[in-house]
Formats: sequence, C-alpha cells, structure tokens
Amino acid sequence: MDKLVVRGGNRLSGRVKINGSKNSALPIMAASILGDGPSVIENVPRLRDIRSMLSILDSLGVQGCHRDDGSVTLEPVDTSKNVADYAQVRTMRGSICVLGPLLAKRGRAVVSLPGGCVIGVRPIDLHLKGLRELGAKISIERGYVVAEAERLAGAEIYLGGAFGPSVLATANIMMAATLAEGETIIDCAACEPEIADLAKFLNAMGAKIEGAGSPTVVIRGVEKLAGARHCVMQDRIEAGTYMIAAASTGGEIIMEDANPAHLGAVIDKLRLAGVSIEKANGSLRVAGSPPYKAMDVTMLPYPGMPTDLQAQMMALLTVSDGISVVTDKVFPDRFMHIAELNRMGADIRKEGPSAIIRGVERLSGSHVMASDLRASAALVLAGLVADGETEVHRVYHIDRGYERIEERLSKLGADIHRAEDDET
Ligand code: UD1
Repeated sequence: MDKLVVRGGNRLSGRVKINGSKNSALPIMAASILGDGPSVIENVPRLRDIRSMLSILDSLGVQGCHRDDGSVTLEPVDTSKNVADYAQVRTMRGSICVLGPLLAKRGRAVVSLPGGCVIGVRPIDLHLKGLRELGAKISIERGYVVAEAERLAGAEIYLGGAFGPSVLATANIMMAATLAEGETIIDCAACEPEIADLAKFLNAMGAKIEGAGSPTVVIRGVEKLAGARHCVMQDRIEAGTYMIAAASTGGEIIMEDANPAHLGAVIDKLRLAGVSIEKANGSLRVAGSPPYKAMDVTMLPYPGMPTDLQAQMMALLTVSDGISVVTDKVFPDRFMHIAELNRMGADIRKEGPSAIIRGVERLSGSHVMASDLRASAALVLAGLVADGETEVHRVYHIDRGYERIEERLSKLGADIHRAEDDET
C-alpha cells in the first residue's frame, strides 16, 4: 500500500488542466449496456473507479478498453449476463448504476447491495422505489437486489428522499425509462450537471429525454438504442479541490477547462472567504492570501455547495480567522476526517450534522489516515499548509478519484511524493 508524503509551506502556482468527471463517466459507461452497438466515451479520467467499472461491465458481457487518448470503447457482446457480484460492487458504490440499464435492456438484473461506507448508511430505497413504479418486480435475496420485468412501463415517479434527491437513483431511473413503454416523469430529480451529461449521452443513443438537470425530467420510451459517441464533462469536484488547494497555500493558479457554470457555489464561498477568482477564456484564475475569513457553509444538493467538497473546505477553514460552522445536509455523517485534521492541530468539534471549526494559526504535519476519497484529498490539502511533514496513509482512496494527484501538485510547486507504506 502507498502513502503520500507532503512537506507543507510551498505556494502553488502555474497551470493545471482539469480532467473528465469520474461521477459523470461512471453512469455513462453503465448506460452503454442499453445500446445495440459499440459506444465511444471520450475524456474519461484514469482512475481506479473507472477500472472497477470496466471490470464490472466486462463481467456483464460488455467489452471495454481505455485507450491512450483517454477514450473508452464499450461494446455489449454477450447480453445473457445479468449478475453484478459482491466482490466487484463493494469496491465502488457507484456500480449500483448498472441496475437500471441491465433491467431495462436484459429483463433481469441481479446486483449486489452495495452496503454502507464510511460516509454513512447509504440506502438504495429510492432506486428500488423508482424501478418498482416502472413495473419491475424486485426482491432482496442473500444480499442481492433481484429485479425483473419483461418490459418496463412509463410512470410518474416522485424521487425525493429524506435527504433530498438522489443523483444515482435519478440516473438509474432515467436510464431504465429510456426503453420503457410510454412516458416517464421523474419529479424531484437530482439537478447535478452529471445527470444532464448522462441525458446528453442517452439522447445521442436515440433516447428522448427532456429537462435533465432540472427537478422534472420527462422521458419518452423508445424501442431500442444504438451505441453513441460522447465527451464527458469536466470534473467539477477535481476543479473545486485544486481551487481550495491553491487558495489555502496563498498561491495563484490558472485552471484550464474548468467550467465556472458548474462551480457557482464554490466560487461564491471562496470569494466570501477572501479568495480572488477570475473567469477568462475557458479558464479560471484562483489567487489568495491566507488567513481567510471564517464562515458558515452548508452542503446541499446541486446547485448548492457539493458534499464532495465538504472535507476540502473544512481543511481550508481550519486555519481561517474565526469560527466556522460546516453542515452537511446530504451526508450528515460524513465527518471521519475531523479526527485526522485534529491530529494535525485543528480545533474541530462535531455537533449533530455540523462541525464547529475554531480557526488555528497553523497546522503541524503528522501521520494521518485517509478514510474515504474526498477525506484523503482534504488531508493532502491540510498537509500542504502544515508545518513540517505529513504522511497520509491508505491513499488508495485518493486514486479512486484523483488522477496522479501528487504529480500534478508537484508540477504546481508542492513538495509531495508517493512512497511505499510499511505501516498499514
Ligand atoms: C453521488 C456521487 C457522490 C456524491 C453524491 C451526492 C457518484 C458515483 N457518486 O452518490 O460522489 O457525494 O452523489 O452528491 O456519482 N439516499 C437515500 N436513498 C437512496 C439513495 C440515496 O436516502 O435510495 C440518500 C443518501 O444516503 C444521501 C442522499 O440521499 O443522504 C444523497 O445521496 P445520493 O445523491 O444518492 O448519492 P449517490 O448518488 O450514491
């Protein structure tokens, strides 16, 4: 297992190109199951989660290959397969998005329940509710969802849950409804840009979807879909992470290919803290000089502040001027990083679904343990500003969602390298 070793104190400066979005690529890759021919997905990042999805699709009879130019070709060659097993699903919760396409295209889907993870319980009741309302017969057997339907039928589906809309439930129902008979209306759909990107791919395959990216999505079912070509949107979470990294080191970076339209809440919050952000010709310039103002930030479904940037924002606020309150309304238990940030000298107390952060003057480098993907990014960010050396253990989490993060941060001037870890 690897660790990342970070020596804090360097300002980040230079240019960084933002990669294609992992969270957009995963359901789009799963949607290739629906096509009668091969699909080509461009701008797919080289990440562990993408490799996991390729392997799940392979086990489902979809041959895939990630090419040097970043494109992934996917071709359904054996449509008799319909089981996504535990060993594969447990490595990545996002694999639940094969459920809708398998059921709609192959009439039967047997998909392992993903189980909980360190960011919370993560139920899939909304996925199952939506599919049942499309006419699927669903049972849970020995830890697997078994879903069957000869042909799904369009329906009006309210998809809001206790924590608001669900991104992957919206993706699953939208994908399943493309091949259903008649019209489906999803109400309280997730509005994340990744949903609009998925709909763009499905429409290129021949689907009839309107309103994706808004709370109401209308899908008119079609008889069949073809393979299609699509270029995945840029990763707004990766962009937000680099913005926070640059700001917290008092640096100045230009981010190429970041889409400011997807970063409204992040730009607003960082500006309120005192970071300078300018948009110019398809790029974003981020510059700042800490300490920043403390503030209250609440993570909400899009277009609110993304929960996937909660930990990174918290790392920034640990050294801000005053007291901040960070609340996560999407994953109220997503706070495993607090203990690790406190090990570095932060002063954070959890209070229900919120964290109260008393800004300190400096963090001090130490050994910390990454608990999940975004928490590991937060620990790297904290390491960039801490005094001395920080060792982030269990960094396999970070490889699930950030392409070569240490190389890219090094190019921007950070003192960071990967090393073999004998401690974990
Ligand atoms: C996706 C993202 C993840 C991000 C999350 C929220 C991918 C691969 N993952 O995950 O990075 O953090 O959106 O933006 O795109 N919920 C239910 N019932 C359900 C489903 C969800 O109650 O059936 C709850 C969840 O526990 C959570 C909230 O709804 O509290 C939102 O979760 P959801 O949008 O479903 O997250 P994912 O789609 O799994």
